[in-house]
Amino acid sequence: FGYINYLVEKDRKYILDTLVNGLSRLEYRGYDSAGLAVDGDKKKEVFAFKEVGKVAKLKALIEQEKPDLTKVFDNHAGIAHTRWATHGPPSRVNCHPHRSDSSWQFAVVHNGIITNYKELKVLLQSKGFKFETETDTEAIAKLAKYIYDEHPSIDFTTLTKAVIKELQGAFGLLMKSVHFPGEVVAARKGSPLVVGVRTQKKMKVDFVDVEFGENEGALPAEQASQNVALRNKNSLLAPPDKSNLLHRSQSRAFLSDDGVPQPTEFFLSSDPSAIVEHTKKVLYLEDDDIAHIHEGQLNIHRVSKMDGTSNVRAIQTIEIELQEIMKGRFDHFMQKEIFEQPESIVNAMRGRLNAKEGTVTLGGLKQYMGTIRRCRRLIFIACGTSFHSCMAVRGAFEELTDIPISVELASDFLDRQAPVFRDDTCVFVSQSGETADSLMALRYCLERGALTVGIVNVVGSSISLMTHCGVHINAGPEIGVASTKAYTSQFVCMIMFALSLSEDRASKQKRRDDIMQGLSKISEQFKEILKMDEDIKEMCQKFVQRLKFTPDAGTDREPRFKHQKSMLLLGRGAQHATALEGALKIKEISYLHCEAVMSGELKHGVLALVDESLPIVMILTRDDIFAKSLNAYQQVIARKGRPIVICNQDDKEFPGEKTDKIEVPYTVDVLQGLLNVIPLQLMAYWLAVGEGLNVDFPRNLAKSVTVE
Ligand code: G6P
Repeated sequence: FGYINYLVEKDRKYILDTLVNGLSRLEYRGYDSAGLAVDGDKKKEVFAFKEVGKVAKLKALIEQEKPDLTKVFDNHAGIAHTRWATHGPPSRVNCHPHRSDSSWQFAVVHNGIITNYKELKVLLQSKGFKFETETDTEAIAKLAKYIYDEHPSIDFTTLTKAVIKELQGAFGLLMKSVHFPGEVVAARKGSPLVVGVRTQKKMKVDFVDVEFGENEGALPAEQASQNVALRNKNSLLAPPDKSNLLHRSQSRAFLSDDGVPQPTEFFLSSDPSAIVEHTKKVLYLEDDDIAHIHEGQLNIHRVSKMDGTSNVRAIQTIEIELQEIMKGRFDHFMQKEIFEQPESIVNAMRGRLNAKEGTVTLGGLKQYMGTIRRCRRLIFIACGTSFHSCMAVRGAFEELTDIPISVELASDFLDRQAPVFRDDTCVFVSQSGETADSLMALRYCLERGALTVGIVNVVGSSISLMTHCGVHINAGPEIGVASTKAYTSQFVCMIMFALSLSEDRASKQKRRDDIMQGLSKISEQFKEILKMDEDIKEMCQKFVQRLKFTPDAGTDREPRFKHQKSMLLLGRGAQHATALEGALKIKEISYLHCEAVMSGELKHGVLALVDESLPIVMILTRDDIFAKSLNAYQQVIARKGRPIVICNQDDKEFPGEKTDKIEVPYTVDVLQGLLNVIPLQLMAYWLAVGEGLNVDFPRNLAKSVTVE
């Protein structure tokens, strides 16, 4: 997160509060440690604050250090970061911002991974730089200083271009420097970055598109510069000639008609949720963009040729409301998001599904529908929860479209370098639209000429920009690390996709109608299930009592579940995906190992674990394979297992007095997973809350994993 004010007087308290508040909004993306850098009291002085743990601890540290909060700046640039550790454990020293030297000439915050940082480090060490952290980011700050020292008259943009040229990997970064006071550069490649703008008065040329100049000739030297540091150590001495800037910015934004700079504030963030309370006017940076903010202006430069990307960066108005990113009356974001599902699911279908007329219109796919119908294969590629939503709809796609379907974990797909062809359609499903593994797989499929489709929640995210076409799931911001409402909205969007693909298939019309009718009732059924929240909470409390635990345990460090072997979640057919998703929720937030088992496989091994004490949940709603699912139930009962059963309302198979059960309404089989997953989300939530764990910040995890 970054904040820059120009001709708007702000005291240090305001600047620090804005940065810390920005970090709190972004905390769900990483919460190992947090830090920020602002200007000091003297010229060329920097104050940096870094602390391990949550943003609240950083805030406390700042209060403790007592900087002069009254000092006023009319032009100031501050940068801040919350970390999810990749290189080096969480510690004050490894925490961002990172610095070029002890006087903080260059300070950098960075998301992503610099894959060639070791080579850069060796090179910079040979030039006399001393590294103090285990991070990859430190190399960026030191590289900037190295180039600056060689070329003291260089401007900030040219310097940044020279730095970026040497970096391999992925980044979304901000850099400030004592040599360029009041300025910030932001650069992105593979990690999201958005710039928010707040102006004090309405200006005539307010929010014009940021335009680029004409292409000014290719830059072979630049294009060939990848890893130039290794090939020719002296190349770092040669920053790009200014006349070689491939796309000169012609930004006139935020200047008045007569060209006199106006009071302006800029907010830089990896996610618009940290910006929305300040301004709704934002500009999304694209890969290889460098944004330079100085004197109230925003200039966009390119690191490399534009390869199909637009030469216009429009200022957009974001539609997120502040309350959407606040917890409101709920204790946790996860809880709020579970309870939002009756609404989020409607938002996924709004204007798309017309159950009365039997039509589905997905505007973002329209142009490509013919091609997709003729494709040789549909490959769904995703990670985590998004992968499970793909698993959940696989059967529906096969049945409705008769197209061969495969569902792939992005990382494994890439590891195998799986074959992809021009007549394949590859569907990338992602809440954030930024998951590194999924993005890499997307690039891989694009290179092989496949048609790519994005099913994404975050508008303006990399996957939504890079795919040929797609559907926004419209679930609204999802902050809880454990994904809930995105799962059900992805599920519904993909079902609508399958319905759309099968619209001209006469033999499927009855089935399609049934599914559409089911979809039109699903929101009300969600509400019915959510009414069971208290019952599920009580059931979880009893369930916890049954688990073996040591009496003195039960803290974040020592959860009682640690002493429990495991838990099983059984499902068959489409409900196997529900079991996978439920088990992931339980693992993520309560740290209890939970294994999803395909019921048919139980007898082939896992049954050995079953006894009277092993916690088991079985999904036993009615479908074509219900009788087979019952076999597994009998096998468990015969071993004295005492499962909690998720079944349809009033199912006589499970009489009340004998079985612990959660009864869900009945819907058409391909949609039943939407209903069945909700009690599991609630169970995961109450199990974790019962353990005293912070469900919004599960240890070791991050919401948006922008590293491979
Ligand atoms: C992380 C999150 C998961 C999420 C997965 C995929 O691991 O913690 O909740 O399911 O990434 O994220 P995506 O944004 O691509 O759906």
